[in-house]
Amino acid sequence: MTDLIDALAVPRADAGTGHVRVGDPVSRIDGRAKVTGQARYAAEVQVDDPASPLVYGVVVNSTIARGRITGFALDAALAVPGVLDILTHANKPKTRSAGLFYKDMTAPGGTPFKPLHDAQIAYSGQPVALVVAESFEAARHAASLVRVDYAMEPHDTRLLANLHRGRKPSRLKAGYAPPPAEKGDARAAFDAAPVKIEAEYHSGVEHHNPMELFASTVIRGADGHLTIYDKTQSSQNSRWYVSRVFGLSKDRVTVRNPYVGGAFGSGLRPQYQLPLAVMAALKLERSVRVVLTRQQMFSFGHRPETQQRIGLAAERDGTLRAIRHHAVAETSRFEDYVEVVVNWSGQLYRCDNIRLGYQVVPLDHYSPMDMRAPGAAHGVHALEVAMDELSYVLDMDPLALRLKNYAERNPMDDLPYSTKELRACYLQGAERFGWAARPLAPRSMKEGHEWVGWGMATGTWDAMQMFARASAVLHADGRLVVSSAATDIGTGTYTVMAQIAAAAMGLPMEQVSFQLGDSTLPVAPIQGGSSHVTTVGSAVEGVCEKLQRRLFGMARAMPGTALRKVAFEEMEFVDGTLRRAVDPSGAVRLVDVLAHARAARIEEKYLMLPHVFQQRKYQRATHSAVFCEVRVDELLGTVRVTRVVSAVAAGRIINAKTARSQVSGAVVWGISQALHEETLTDHRLGRFMNHNLSEYHVAVNADIHDIDVIFVQEDDRIVSRLGAKGVGEIGIVGVAAAVCNAIFHATGRRVRSLPMTPDKVMAP
Ligand code: MOS
Repeated sequence: MTDLIDALAVPRADAGTGHVRVGDPVSRIDGRAKVTGQARYAAEVQVDDPASPLVYGVVVNSTIARGRITGFALDAALAVPGVLDILTHANKPKTRSAGLFYKDMTAPGGTPFKPLHDAQIAYSGQPVALVVAESFEAARHAASLVRVDYAMEPHDTRLLANLHRGRKPSRLKAGYAPPPAEKGDARAAFDAAPVKIEAEYHSGVEHHNPMELFASTVIRGADGHLTIYDKTQSSQNSRWYVSRVFGLSKDRVTVRNPYVGGAFGSGLRPQYQLPLAVMAALKLERSVRVVLTRQQMFSFGHRPETQQRIGLAAERDGTLRAIRHHAVAETSRFEDYVEVVVNWSGQLYRCDNIRLGYQVVPLDHYSPMDMRAPGAAHGVHALEVAMDELSYVLDMDPLALRLKNYAERNPMDDLPYSTKELRACYLQGAERFGWAARPLAPRSMKEGHEWVGWGMATGTWDAMQMFARASAVLHADGRLVVSSAATDIGTGTYTVMAQIAAAAMGLPMEQVSFQLGDSTLPVAPIQGGSSHVTTVGSAVEGVCEKLQRRLFGMARAMPGTALRKVAFEEMEFVDGTLRRAVDPSGAVRLVDVLAHARAARIEEKYLMLPHVFQQRKYQRATHSAVFCEVRVDELLGTVRVTRVVSAVAAGRIINAKTARSQVSGAVVWGISQALHEETLTDHRLGRFMNHNLSEYHVAVNADIHDIDVIFVQEDDRIVSRLGAKGVGEIGIVGVAAAVCNAIFHATGRRVRSLPMTPDKVMAP
């Protein structure tokens, strides 16, 4: 156990954190390792084997979007000193051929792309060769000399020209919720209502662009065992994928991801550097590292381009009569990537007539992929801009319109909410922002050369719980080690899980470690959907409860104990002791309990299964209200978001500091989505053009001003035993809509396409 902790460099809290409670703003215990560079990422792991030094692979990508490879010219590349091999579909080691084996745990329906499988080209940027050399530099130079001949076939990457080809997703993914059946008669209600708006909204392709590049370091042991450091949101998903693609038993492959430098959904599926690195390791019998370049980071999943149409109808007093929301999104030719874009429109406002539709259009791009709050980030955007548009037609305050239609039960199926403090989000957010002082009319605030506008929007995201296992070992010296194959993609998992365990056991943070990021640890789900706290956190609390009961039983067996007639429920675990809550004088130290039993360690394991039958009786979601101020340059059309207040209801907050970081980081990304981010395709080539960080703009420090996060009081024991609902993705939902609505309030100009670049803001 200790060895694994050292191998993974599991961070421990430094002195000074001491006793903690759930909710405390504990600083990241991995912070020091990260800022000092001691935290090693997938591309940085040291491989010290003088007999067989690490070799490096560099990927060559297709320059055509569709067709087939007719030949390679490899001589020049093979002549580069240090080059060991060039892997292509023609000479790669054996892999399984059935698509089934390439389905990772989050694969959408369809047949996954199989790297280096055959001569077919399915998208521009597809990996076609891996150059392996003794140095990275040699491999990179040689890769530039690889010539590939293609037979091109016509491709089509245009969503807007192909909306007529939209169809219902036919190959569904487990867990995906298609739009529910129509409620009432939305068309008739829409036609009959006195006030209505109808509009179309467009959002472009976005790429995740985590700071850490995708990388896999495959360390080949003398016995052929592969230990793989991979950039992934689940070590067990990558382990499963490698085992299946290469037909390797579980015992031959271990995947680790102790540190992940951001992922935002891009690591939910294994990316192609992983199987390519494994291929090279198997063929050359060497340890291999493959790191993608920033440009190659644009050669797999992305947030899909999406076109939406919304119709809203209301009475003159603002009472909603009809909601119609239809979305068409791109997918690839080989998989039906699906996400929940429109369902949110049946979950936020009381309304008797709701019709929701969702279609996909297969194009010659790689399959899109979940990206922070997939579906909601643009689906709720369209709804919340439409609500703002309706408020102006009604001559009604946009917040008042939302409160007027506040849903006390889930509109689509009339289920009660497990908890829903959205009203408190609206009121506390509005109060903090100073919303009451907002003039109703657009173009009524100006300072210098800038129009000033205030906008708001609602956000919502699922409150999910999956299943997980955890184990806990209490050592005789009082150290507690809790484990689960969870992931920390930068969200604070190490810290929060150690905090939950420390609080449960009454131990100081310095004595508690949480180990994650290794496929051999107890089963944990993929870190996605903002569900790690509700899932793994509950497993951690559960295993700690088992440990408590065990210690209680052991303490009762000690001579002279006063605990014989005491019930477990009367006990508390504080200050490294267990004691009766009403009588702290009889406290027994945990280390003494182990010492008396002559136990070097005690261990418990726990399987956390969600109470699905109970949970299904409720609509479970997190909510937010986002308020923002923009300043729009009257001559240049440039937009500055000068103030954001995000009020979030996400159940019990486990760590006030890491949770706040999640939301403020997500607000930054919301601003970036609103104003900057879009990957543009050159449709003649079928290729993403701005595949670098100089032309793919993300928000930088200069773009970000005041961000104020409020967590309203909420405690949800339906979603998780901790009372938590999960926080992360909720922070981005609604931000782009609030910015759009503020731009309208500032300028009187409605921009229905993301990102809202100056050309659109200034368009006549
Ligand atoms: Mo998130 S898009 O579920 O990593």
